[in-house]
Amino acid sequence: MSDKATLEINGQKHEFPLITGTENEVAIDIKTLRGVTGGVTTIDPGYKNTGSCESAITFLNGEKGILRYRGYSIEDLAEKADFLEVAYLLIFGELPTQEQLDKFHSDIKKHSVVDDDVKKILDAFPKSAHPMGVLASLTSALTAFNPSSVNVESEEDMYNAIVRILGKFPVLVAWTMRKKQGLPLNYGSEDLGYVENILKMMFEKPNKEYQQSEILVNALDKLLILHADHEQNCSTSTVRIVGSSHAGLFASLSAGISALWGPLHGGANQAVLEMLEGIKEDGGDTKKYMGKAKDKEDPFRLMGFGHRVYKNFDPRARIIKKSADEVLGDLGVEDPILDIAKGLEKEALEDDYFVKRKLYPNVDFYSGIIYRAMGIPVEMFTVMFALGRLPGWIAQWREMRMRKEPIGRPRQVYIGENHRDFKTIENR
Ligand code: ACO
Repeated sequence: MSDKATLEINGQKHEFPLITGTENEVAIDIKTLRGVTGGVTTIDPGYKNTGSCESAITFLNGEKGILRYRGYSIEDLAEKADFLEVAYLLIFGELPTQEQLDKFHSDIKKHSVVDDDVKKILDAFPKSAHPMGVLASLTSALTAFNPSSVNVESEEDMYNAIVRILGKFPVLVAWTMRKKQGLPLNYGSEDLGYVENILKMMFEKPNKEYQQSEILVNALDKLLILHADHEQNCSTSTVRIVGSSHAGLFASLSAGISALWGPLHGGANQAVLEMLEGIKEDGGDTKKYMGKAKDKEDPFRLMGFGHRVYKNFDPRARIIKKSADEVLGDLGVEDPILDIAKGLEKEALEDDYFVKRKLYPNVDFYSGIIYRAMGIPVEMFTVMFALGRLPGWIAQWREMRMRKEPIGRPRQVYIGENHRDFKTIENR
């Protein structure tokens, strides 16, 4: 294969180098395009064909259904690693030794205390506020309580900012849920693991000794690993682009949380469960909803189906489907919603409309069913996604800053009015 691409505009030929990644993905490097062509730009709404960066964190191949963090397959990591090891791997590039992992965990615990005044901000939110809005605000507010800016040239400064947010974020998540439920705000325990503490903070009752459930710890650990990174998706690109203006880590993460909230992205897990509930209440007629999803006049979409990159099975969906069966079995929960989900999936996989468009279940088709069996309220589902995605966002922010990437600033093609003379108000 040639190592150059040629573009001809108005009879003039321009050559651009090809870049090949370590998995043989090929990209045309158009950094010089505007300069050599006298201002010609590209247009690619939704960035369907545009690579925004070179990254060494996550590899995914949508055609083959492959997902790897730092070279390790998602299947191996979900089965053999725990979430904190995966977080370390994503952020620092290698699996930690026991010593490195112990230090990482101990540093995170040291930084888990949240300024008590944050509770005043939480108090000001109505109980009806969506937890994603509250979480985005509280994460942004951390900037005010930790105002010193991170010197990204200093590994130590960078490390401290990372363990600080990894320590405080689960506290904010738990408090967001507890506040809504009128429960006292609490903290984790020194002797528990990272994921164990998340569950303790979320579910501990003031009048009952807290009992750890291995089933729930393992289920949450796996879900968080599956959500931990997914290269340049909408929220991650948001974190990178906000961070590219040299806004701080917490501010960049807060923007990522807002991006994740939408139902076309992380908000899909809440939307899936609401959709399945709706189908159940409407008599469980999956065929009717399949028809609605295919009807171009109807705005209804089969939530939890389709993906911008996976045009084959989402490998995370395969792991989660199996996990949903196991967790519900272990907990002794029978959920008719699971049967509706399986029915819809079967019909969609055999339906021409879905087959032609390569629409398969994505990671969030089954995750809500597990969250619900764990006793997590529906409105918290996307918050749980954010908790899992946190290390990915941090890793991508760190990589962007360490590679000294320029500020993100796309171009446009203007299609508005040409120059017009100003009309005074009485002449309009
Ligand atoms: N139900 C019905 N039709 C669908 C669906 C769906 N869930 N998803 C895509 N289609 C159809 C579109 O109508 C379009 O049809 P057309 O070619 O006849 O116009 C075609 O499939 C291509 O869809 P696009 O929207 O162009 O695909 P895009 O890559 O832009 O969108 C997205 C991907 C947003 C995920 C989309 O599939 C969707 O809305 N899915 C439902 C929401 C969802 O589950 N989001 C979670 C994504 S995973 C994550 O963020 C963790």
